[in-house]
Amino acid sequence: MERRKDWYEHPEYYEAIFGTDTVREADFLQELSRRFGTGGNQWLEPACGAGRLVAEAASRGLKVAGYDLSEAMLAHARKRLSPAERRRVKLSQARMEDFFDPALEGRVDLAHTLVSTFRYLDSEKAAVEHLTGTRRLLKPDGIYVLGFHLTDYARSGPEHERWVGQVGKDKVVCNTHEGLPEQRLRRSPMRNRLRVTGPDKDWLIETTWYFRTYDEAQVKRLFRKSGLRVAATFDFDYDLDSPVGRGSPRLDRVFVLKPDTASKA
Ligand SMILES: C[S@@+](CC[C@H](N)C(=O)[O-])C[C@H]1O[C@@H](n2cnc3c(N)ncnc32)[C@H](O)[C@@H]1O
Repeated sequence: MERRKDWYEHPEYYEAIFGTDTVREADFLQELSRRFGTGGNQWLEPACGAGRLVAEAASRGLKVAGYDLSEAMLAHARKRLSPAERRRVKLSQARMEDFFDPALEGRVDLAHTLVSTFRYLDSEKAAVEHLTGTRRLLKPDGIYVLGFHLTDYARSGPEHERWVGQVGKDKVVCNTHEGLPEQRLRRSPMRNRLRVTGPDKDWLIETTWYFRTYDEAQVKRLFRKSGLRVAATFDFDYDLDSPVGRGSPRLDRVFVLKPDTASKA
């Protein structure tokens, strides 16, 4: 078995696992835009990764700006676009903490960051900078859709998720492990193992990092501080007819955020 580091250096295997929900997610985002936003056609995806949602949105005729830290992920995103899609897409290498494009200021109908990516922002300052920066790019009626897991600080055991995917003849087994939250430091230790086996391959790609933690009160305070209000909340079932009620025990949340016109942030 050959050991490798950083799953984002291997976009094709990352996407074999996370690409399976793409059409459902794009349907959900479009419907959120119609119900809570403008329904307009300029989208933005902070930390767009290997571009599965960028490509899906462009294939639906939307204009998409996407950016990411990882050049390997962006290269995969660029490669997958057809010439017609490429004309509607602008990709750049940038950080969530300080991305700004003057051409997009006040022009974005829908921004979205799903699959807990927001939790990579490792401090309150970084999170506020990202949220206020993204708010600046939204139209006054635009929405920012943010999907991530809240943290139960009282949890007594680690959490574990397992998925299986396929890339050509290679089988991909993905195990993600979230250790116990460190409440004072506002972080959880994370570990991802991608085991790739095929006719000429036996790889273990192991990645470790920390995710920032939020409980319900912490996230609500952060949104307020960043000049955003919650227009609706859903969970990872992406069911528009089942919004998450106040005090729900479910920790997987999709927040539909709107610029708070009364805010001075
Ligand atoms: C879980 S992937 C999500 C990719 C994509 N949004 C999707 O739904 O498939 C997380 C992505 O966040 C990027 N990332 C992590 N920290 C970042 C930061 N501070 N600024 C920009 N991108 C970042 C990684 O390079 C990676 O591509």
